Amino acid sequence: MTRVNHVSRIDSYFIMHSARPDRWRDLNRMIDGQKAHGAASEEMLAAFADIEVVENFHAYPGPNLMRSLRERILTGDAKEASALARRISDTILTNAMAQEVDREDGARAEDAAMDFLPSALTGRHVHRPYFEVLFVSNQPAARWPAIAQEIRRLRRTEDEFVYEPVIVGSIEDAICAIVVNPRIIACMINEGAALRSSHPAPVLRSILEPFIPTLSGEASSLRLAEIMHRIRPELDIYLNTDRDVERLAADQSASSVRRIFYAVEEPLELHLSILEGVRARYETPFFDNLKKYAQKPVGTFHALPIARGKSVFKSEWIRDMGEFYGINLFLAESSATTGGLDSLLEPTGNIKKSQELAARAFGADHVFFVTNGTSTSNKMVVQALVAPGDIIIVDRNCHKSHHHGCVLGGGQPLYVEAFPLTQYSMYGAVPLASIKKALLDLREEGRLDRVRMLDLTNCTFDGHMYNTRRVMEECLAIKPDLIFLWDEAWSGFARWSPFLRPRTAMGAATAIEEWLADPSSINAYEAQQAKLGSSPSYETLLETRLIPDPRKVRLRVYQTNSTHKSMSAIRQGSMVLVKDVDFPKVTSQFREAVFTHASTSPNQQLIAGLDVARRQMELEGYGLVMNAISIALKIRTAVNNHPVISKYFRILSADEMIPEQYRQSGFVDYLAPGATWGDVVKAMREDEFFLDPTRMTLVCGTAGFDGTQLKGILANRFNIQINKTSRNSVLFQSNINNTRSDVAHLIRVLLELCREIDEQLREGGEAVRSAFEKRVKNLMEDVPDLPNFSRFHAIFRGDAGDRTNEGDMRTAFFAAYREADCEFVPLNSPQINERLKNGPDLVSANFVIPYPPGFPIMVPGQVLTQETIDFMRKLDVKEIHGYDNARGLKLLKIDEMAARKR
Ligand SMILES: Cc1ncc(COP(=O)(O)O)c(C=O)c1O
Repeated sequence: MTRVNHVSRIDSYFIMHSARPDRWRDLNRMIDGQKAHGAASEEMLAAFADIEVVENFHAYPGPNLMRSLRERILTGDAKEASALARRISDTILTNAMAQEVDREDGARAEDAAMDFLPSALTGRHVHRPYFEVLFVSNQPAARWPAIAQEIRRLRRTEDEFVYEPVIVGSIEDAICAIVVNPRIIACMINEGAALRSSHPAPVLRSILEPFIPTLSGEASSLRLAEIMHRIRPELDIYLNTDRDVERLAADQSASSVRRIFYAVEEPLELHLSILEGVRARYETPFFDNLKKYAQKPVGTFHALPIARGKSVFKSEWIRDMGEFYGINLFLAESSATTGGLDSLLEPTGNIKKSQELAARAFGADHVFFVTNGTSTSNKMVVQALVAPGDIIIVDRNCHKSHHHGCVLGGGQPLYVEAFPLTQYSMYGAVPLASIKKALLDLREEGRLDRVRMLDLTNCTFDGHMYNTRRVMEECLAIKPDLIFLWDEAWSGFARWSPFLRPRTAMGAATAIEEWLADPSSINAYEAQQAKLGSSPSYETLLETRLIPDPRKVRLRVYQTNSTHKSMSAIRQGSMVLVKDVDFPKVTSQFREAVFTHASTSPNQQLIAGLDVARRQMELEGYGLVMNAISIALKIRTAVNNHPVISKYFRILSADEMIPEQYRQSGFVDYLAPGATWGDVVKAMREDEFFLDPTRMTLVCGTAGFDGTQLKGILANRFNIQINKTSRNSVLFQSNINNTRSDVAHLIRVLLELCREIDEQLREGGEAVRSAFEKRVKNLMEDVPDLPNFSRFHAIFRGDAGDRTNEGDMRTAFFAAYREADCEFVPLNSPQINERLKNGPDLVSANFVIPYPPGFPIMVPGQVLTQETIDFMRKLDVKEIHGYDNARGLKLLKIDEMAARKR
């Protein structure tokens, strides 16, 4: 049996949480082996020692159970050791410790060998949410059991929540504990704890290093609080000191501390503070009120007959709907904005409070709940900030809501192109050089003042994450008041991963804010200016990592996220996050944009869902996102390393999804031989683009399936749902809800499909084999080139110069409303070929968006080129929005329009 390589496992941060039950399972296996062979093997002792280190950071099983287990292992009592180890590992695997805590009556406190009793044995079934609190102690370890008992004695029957202490004695261990143990949601730091851990250093340092490169010398409790806050900003941190408490409280860096105690004279105060801190996150002002509202006997004399359920439950014909959804849905339905509810459009009560809590949680200054999806959030933001005629630099491959935002608001899109992944018929993300070039071109043409916004998708559908900080800094160096809209529809949950957070809009905005506040930043700017000289060349500016002038920067960052896509919100629940120093100046236009797009009948359940999603993420988001990442890594490994599955299917590695020039760190992939946690962190920090591990592109063309076909098979035969497809791939996404059973099911299904293919090829003879090869070649090699945006027709270009491609898409869009100005030309007609050669220009009258790939191949006012037509002709997808195959391409009669204009 191979030794559990605990050190390397814990080094790979991502699988830290999920590896815990695995380690116990491995130990169990070894102990079972011992039953047959007598004494404990070296391997088993080492595995146990590894486990002990990690278990120091968890309240369960706790020191007593671990001691009992160690004694049983060492004395060769394999039967007893096996029983105990199995009980512990079962409890960890099923997360049963949350139910096992039965504290108030103190019954368990005396039983030293039983830190936790199964609730089934204690007969208590009242569920109170359970969490763990980290105590960073300056006392000798021998005192810790007594301290733990003192803490437990503070419990009262009326406590809403119950917690167990985790006690550590050093700053290193404290950081390790909050990284390793997601159940820790509050920390008490006692001043005077040691710096270095007494545990084996390689294990700890490998985890800590990426987070705290500067932890050396004397690290104070405030410094520890600051580091913890950076890693997990949602934690409540308390500080206990017997020194100059007033000085500590006044320290700038004390902002990450919730409360400072002076020598905790009154332990109950601390206990109550901890509970109150958790309650502040548990509180869901809107949802709490909605539940109360639902219990009230309300008579309704307004719209929404479905409210209270009377029209449903009394009906002969629609009662099944009531039975299906349950009474609470109807009791909680209302079109009222008073009587305990609030108005989403003009929030002054509990919705306002819920939005404020969301702003705190997501690290924004303001949050606005949106109940019509991010499709609406994007249109709101674009309309609120971009006036007709303003230029908006936008990824052409972005979601249609951004394009529609331009049509509605009159912003002129200046399309920038993402790098293509032609072989897989998809796009990546937009290189920073293209964005800088667009800005520098506009500056050359004297039109920089017209640019209002940069609008990008982060991460993209397929998982490309921008280096958000770098993009914003370099753009601000060219245009210091540029507004950023980051569409993070897919990655709202990234906030709760210290690993992914720096690449989020708000994570980067916070870092830039700190940089702006640092006086030395001006020196960095001035040093670069001195080096660049008074008139740096265009090329120099493109090549240099530009530093903005901190005195000029107006930091204006907006993020939209489909909360329903990555958190526990109901479908269509979305948020707009705002960190904009000039927000007070645009508040009224922002509100007007909200009024324009939001329904006047927002659904109560959607608002409640947003409130609850925020609560969940603040209390358990860290562990959930870690789980999503670890599930993704398991799927990646299982597919790509399986001897049968990998014959036909493959999940694309980071180096296949991101061209080399954008991986400056040289990162290859999560699964590359020899890749370390350090390599991944370096790539995340430095690379222009980074692949979100939770988004997995599975190549299926090599199995003879196009994306749509495989999507159908997975859904119809195996009840596996996926979202996006391309010509030869499908996209899997792991999320906060996925379990390892889901992984097992997926792998089993892929294996079954591979066996079927094997069988068909084996039994079908030469004809079937060659047909299969032909199909694979067609899917994998005969791929159409992805057409770039060509240009807007001159009549929609206004005063634009030659260097950039922005245009007045709104005028083009509405021009198509005049039937006489439109014509339809069949896609395959010779007329198209003729006009491509000799004119007049083919100018699209509308958006044409094929699914997949899902981005507009044509936009209103765009001149069609041979590439666009070739791509359309090769498309073999069923769904092409804006294109009617029977009538052909809808074009604007541009010459007639131009003549009329003259
Ligand atoms: C990048 C992006 N932005 C916005 C949206 C729209 O979000 P919603 O479905 O919440 O309206 C999507 C939907 O798929 C998307 O992929």
